[in-house]
Amino acid sequence: MADVRHQPRTVHLNAASHHPPIVGSSIGALAWPTEEATRAYAAELASHPAIGRAFIELHGDLGAGKTTFVRHLLRALGISERVKSPTYTVMEPHEANGIAIYHFDFYRFNDPREWEDAGFRDVFAGPGLKLAEWPEKAAGLLPTADLVIRIEADADETRHVTLKAQTPLGQELLS
Ligand SMILES: Nc1ncnc2c1ncn2[C@@H]1O[C@H](COP(=O)(O)OP(=O)(O)O)[C@@H](O)[C@H]1O
Ligand SMILES: [Mg+2]
Repeated sequence: MADVRHQPRTVHLNAASHHPPIVGSSIGALAWPTEEATRAYAAELASHPAIGRAFIELHGDLGAGKTTFVRHLLRALGISERVKSPTYTVMEPHEANGIAIYHFDFYRFNDPREWEDAGFRDVFAGPGLKLAEWPEKAAGLLPTADLVIRIEADADETRHVTLKAQTPLGQELLS
């Protein structure tokens, strides 16, 4: 029988996230029947003390409601300025009550050199809240997200949402 204490341990030095991934993950499913429900959930998440150091991925087709969710979240965190969609700039920085917030939209991200050149690596290694739309376009560069939110539009205003915590911090956000 192998003694577990003598087995080599893998240490992922490239992980920019300071939050260790958890084995397995917890998943929740929700429905937001109206945009008001989306706003209410965003407000609930914003009230969580761990939000200020989370990395949240937002998945879903065009028009699913990713930017809308971010707008409600940022408003709930105290941002009054207009929240522009970062589709053309890839990243829009904000600040609310001492929390640095970085809103990414990787839809048009196609030059991996930009990851270094635009300082995105440093952003993900530093403190603050990071929100990423179209994270699949920066796969391989992004650290493990604390929380993965998947939004799917129904025929009406209803949005079907799955939430997946991938780190202890993500689990805290779902609790
Ligand atoms: N329940 C809902 N939650 C979020 N957005 C909704 C909802 N119902 C309707 N919408 C509308 O759907 C659109 C979503 O657009 P947007 O947030 O830009 O999508 P994405 O960023 O995913 O491309 C907005 O016009 C928003 O008002
Ligand atoms: Mg968007």
